[in-house]
Parts: sequence; structure tokens; C-alpha cells
Amino acid sequence: MIGSGGREHALAWKLAQSRLCDRLFASPGNPGIAQHAELVAVDPADHAAVLDFCEAQRIALVVIGPEAPLVDGLADSLRGSGVPVFGPSKAAAQLEGSKAFTKELCDRHAIPTAAFKRVAALDEALSALDAFPIPVVIKADGLAAGKGVTVAMSRDEAEAAIRDIFSGRFGAAGAEAVIEAFLEGEEASFFAITDGHTVVPFGSAQDHKRVGDGDTGPNTGGMGAYSPAPVLTPLLEGEALERIVVPTVRAMAEEGTPYSGVLYAGLMLTPQGVQLIEYNCRFGDPECQVLMLRYQGDLAKLMLATAEGRLASLQPPRFSDDTALTVVMAAKGYPDSPVKGGAISGIEQAEAGGAKVFHAGTAQTAGGLVANGGRVLNVTARGSTVAEAQAGAYAAVDKIDFPDGFCRRDIGWREVAREAKG
Ligand code: AMP
Ligand code: GLY
Repeated sequence: MIGSGGREHALAWKLAQSRLCDRLFASPGNPGIAQHAELVAVDPADHAAVLDFCEAQRIALVVIGPEAPLVDGLADSLRGSGVPVFGPSKAAAQLEGSKAFTKELCDRHAIPTAAFKRVAALDEALSALDAFPIPVVIKADGLAAGKGVTVAMSRDEAEAAIRDIFSGRFGAAGAEAVIEAFLEGEEASFFAITDGHTVVPFGSAQDHKRVGDGDTGPNTGGMGAYSPAPVLTPLLEGEALERIVVPTVRAMAEEGTPYSGVLYAGLMLTPQGVQLIEYNCRFGDPECQVLMLRYQGDLAKLMLATAEGRLASLQPPRFSDDTALTVVMAAKGYPDSPVKGGAISGIEQAEAGGAKVFHAGTAQTAGGLVANGGRVLNVTARGSTVAEAQAGAYAAVDKIDFPDGFCRRDIGWREVAREAKG
């Protein structure tokens, strides 16, 4: 397994439970992942080194967690040498790697998404802006570590975002941009596993992207999540599958770039129906952590069947029907300038009550466990309602001693409020 975050800890935890998994290596991993895997240091950008390692250890399956190595074509290099891999090719990972690619694919195949204009220069972008009402959404085309999207509430803000992109702030990722109509509604994340032909739903979740309580402050990679997302009712999930995900998978196959792996659809539930906001070519982080807590199948078996194009031969994935909720404990200063090195203790006590603590950005030092990243721990619990899962997760958070950390205290608030109303 390639990766080192909370997503990868959750995947490693689940993979290690598989009957098929005799031995698990993780590169570079983290102290949580080390409980389930042997950590190695193989540079994922050095495809020859990854291949050499796979040959030397006779690796039967490579799982690629993050988007960067996927967009960089690591899956192609491995597949080209006969190593089964869970994760899309470079061409298929364009669904996350290029916003314009995805918007144009949606356009060609009548997949519901916001109206857009692809622009490649400052002047072109500024004049294209005239055609969009405010608010308007400005996106750098490529991977920008979650910082490439601006929901502009004024023309000035939109122009500033465009100037920012074309000033080179995002490097090659900002060589082009997409201007998008603003969609109104509630967001939900929907996951599907596909081997390029067969598509199976893999659950839903809702993320909390802003750093502060009440969804305030700057955007982050995600401060907490829960699964399932009841707003994505079975009817709406069916609509997302039939009108968005299945047509996408079919289109990718028809166009000669079949998509294999997990497809994460960011959806807006609008009065006009379900619309695609964006695709990711990987599991969400921290959405993966809550999905893995509820997933009842054998993850290695599912991933290997996906890698080998045999998904149709498996039973569809099954999930527990309770709720899982995760709270991200971050280092103070996140997302701008997280303080590294803060001491952490109390994880065992937190888990004694039934919670599961995934490591996202930690390091083991002679003096004990310390923070080593922006998002540090994912404290995760289950319950028969969102309120119950939330109470469990915060009870566990309160057992953890991490003076240089903080977390939101309201993860799950939308659903907890709906549950309270009955
Ligand atoms: P993305 O990286 O494309 O998911 O965008 C980040 C966030 O921006 C999304 O989670 C939404 O909250 C918001 N967003 C993106 N596109 C739109 C849109 N067309 N309308 C409204 N909000 C959007
Ligand atoms: N939590 C949002 C993401 O993984 O993209």
C-alpha cells in the first residue's frame, strides 16, 4: 500500500483483516499503519523502484491511496509489468487531475453538472466571467492540494481568484481554469467501485471542509465525516448511480480510458436533481475512515477482483446499517501553519470505550508519539444514530491528551439537528 495518512491507516487496518492478506507492506506508512504492516521507504515517484520492490517481495496487489501517484501514472507502470493494482491509470485519473477534462466528458455524455467555461488565459477568463451570474465558482484545472477552488460571492472576488490562478500560484495546475455556475443545495459524497465495466455502490458520507465550528474559516482537507449520509436517500443514490457514475464509467471505457478503482463523486443535491461537483480518483480522507468502519466485506478480495476485472463475480459490498462518525484532531495552526512535534497520549484509553483512532499525521519518537502533520488523528466511533456516534467519538476525543491540537466540536451537526427534529 502506498500512502501515509488516516485514509491509508483505515485501509491497512481493513486489508490486514483479510483472509487473503499474508503480509502487508506500506510505503511510507505511519505509526498507526505500522500496527498492521511492515513499513518500507520506496519513492512512489520512482516507478522502477516500486516495480523492483514488487518483484523482490512477489507482491500480489498494490493499493495506491493518494491521488498524486495515480495522476502520475504509477498504476500504468505496475500494470504494464503484470502487477495487479487497485487504482486508475494516468489517463483515467484525469477525472480528478483535470477539472476541464471531467466537465467536457460530462458535456459529451449529458451527465448533470454545473454549466462551465474552460479558459486558458487571463483575458479570456475575465471576459468569459461576464456570462456567469454571481456567486460564481473559479477552479484551477489541475491538482492544487484542495486550494484551487474559490466560490466567489462578488465579481471582485472572482476576478481576484482568476488573477491568482493565472499568476502561476498553482504552477502547471493553474495553466488552465474552469469557470462554473454556482450550484445551490446540500453536498454529499458517493463512492463506487468499478473495474471498468461493473460498477458497485460503496456507500455515502458527508464531510466538513471548513476548519471551524458552524462551517466557518478556511477550507481544509476535511475536519470530520460521517457515513452514511441520510440526505442521499436510496432514491437520490439511485439517481447518482444511473445518471452520473454509470454513464461516466461507460464513457471512459468507450473512449479507450477505462476507469478502475474507487470513484468518489462529490455531489450537490439541488432542487433540479443530483449534480456532479467533482470526481476524485481515490477514497476521501477522512471519508474512507468511516466507510471502512462500516464495510463488512473482505477488502483485499474486493480490491484484487477490481484490479483483475472480476468485480461481477463478487457479491455486492455490504455495510453495517449503523452510523460511523470521525472527528479529525489537527495540529494548532492547521490549515495554514500547523505546529509539528506536539506530544500525544491517551489513544489506548480512547479506544478502550470502543472507538477506533486512526493515525493521520503522527511520528514515533524516543519521547513518544508526536504530531507530524496538519491532520493528526481521526477519532472514529459507531452508533445507531448520528447523535450516538457523535457522542462516542467526542467521549474518545476527550480521553486524548494533545495540548497542541484542536478539533471541531460539531461534526455531524446537520444530521444531529435533523434527528432531533424527528
Ligand atoms: P471541489 O474541489 O471541486 O470539490 O470544490 C471544493 C468545494 O467548492 C466543494 O466541496 C463545494 O463546496 C464548492 N463548489 C465547487 N463547485 C461548486 C459549484 N459549482 N457550486 C457550488 N459550490 C461548489
Ligand atoms: N475529504 C475530502 C477529500 O478527501 O477530498
